[in-house]
Amino acid sequence: MTRAELTVLVDNRAGFGCVEEHGYALWIDAGGRRILLDTGQGPALAENARTLGVDLGQTDILALSHGHYDHTGAVPLVLSSAPQARLYCHSGVTEPRYSIREGAARDIRMPMASMRALNALAVDRLRWSVEPVPLGGGIGLSGFIPRRTDFEDTGGPFYFDPLGHRPDPINDDQSLWIATDKGLVVCTGCCHAGLINTLMHLREVTGEERIRAVIGGLHLGTASAERLESTARALRDMRVGLLVPCHCTGEAAAAWLADHLDCEVHTGYSGFRLDTADL
Ligand SMILES: [Fe+2]
Ligand SMILES: [Fe+2]
Repeated sequence: MTRAELTVLVDNRAGFGCVEEHGYALWIDAGGRRILLDTGQGPALAENARTLGVDLGQTDILALSHGHYDHTGAVPLVLSSAPQARLYCHSGVTEPRYSIREGAARDIRMPMASMRALNALAVDRLRWSVEPVPLGGGIGLSGFIPRRTDFEDTGGPFYFDPLGHRPDPINDDQSLWIATDKGLVVCTGCCHAGLINTLMHLREVTGEERIRAVIGGLHLGTASAERLESTARALRDMRVGLLVPCHCTGEAAAAWLADHLDCEVHTGYSGFRLDTADL
């Protein structure tokens, strides 16, 4: 089974001399194969990689969990420093997108420089992951995650247009899975598809019922009490063993989950490491 060493490179919280940034990036070293899931907004990635002894030039696969700016800002840096890296993402990552609060629209799409880098990629370096994609060695991407639960949503006021006429279901949201002998380790970006939708889908895609650990952003900052309770109930039913809420989970939601789950819960931060051999 796959052994993978995971290092959070960018997060809203920082440890081990790293800088913090609203964003997320996770480095996965799986038997010498290096996968970077997301890049943060840009500035923190290279600095934290240096601090943590990670060579971004060794990236074999850059996977984007979705197209928001706080996950895609360092795409040009990664693609130029790792000429061998292939990029995996959903074809919807470059859509225009906005967050609208109190009538004010904020542009949260992928930065132009990242879109240009994506468009300039040679065809053999770009793989669309609309469907589930095996990456080999017991690792894969979820592709589009069907929305099945009645208690989950994207977690925010997200739209394709600045006037708020067209809600953005963030269909490009995807997660990465690693098969271990104790079950799946699931790596999310923002998890706009909903954590339980994501886990249900990955169980089906992989045929593995056991979820050993979940690490990543869960976007539960605006979650209702009902949603949190239903999420906790489903996580208990699935016997998830370890939860590492990162990035956009929301401090209150992460604390609530720590109180209401019977599994281990450790809030993540830049520099947080997880070796699947220790699970
Ligand atoms: Fe995010
Ligand atoms: Fe997001």
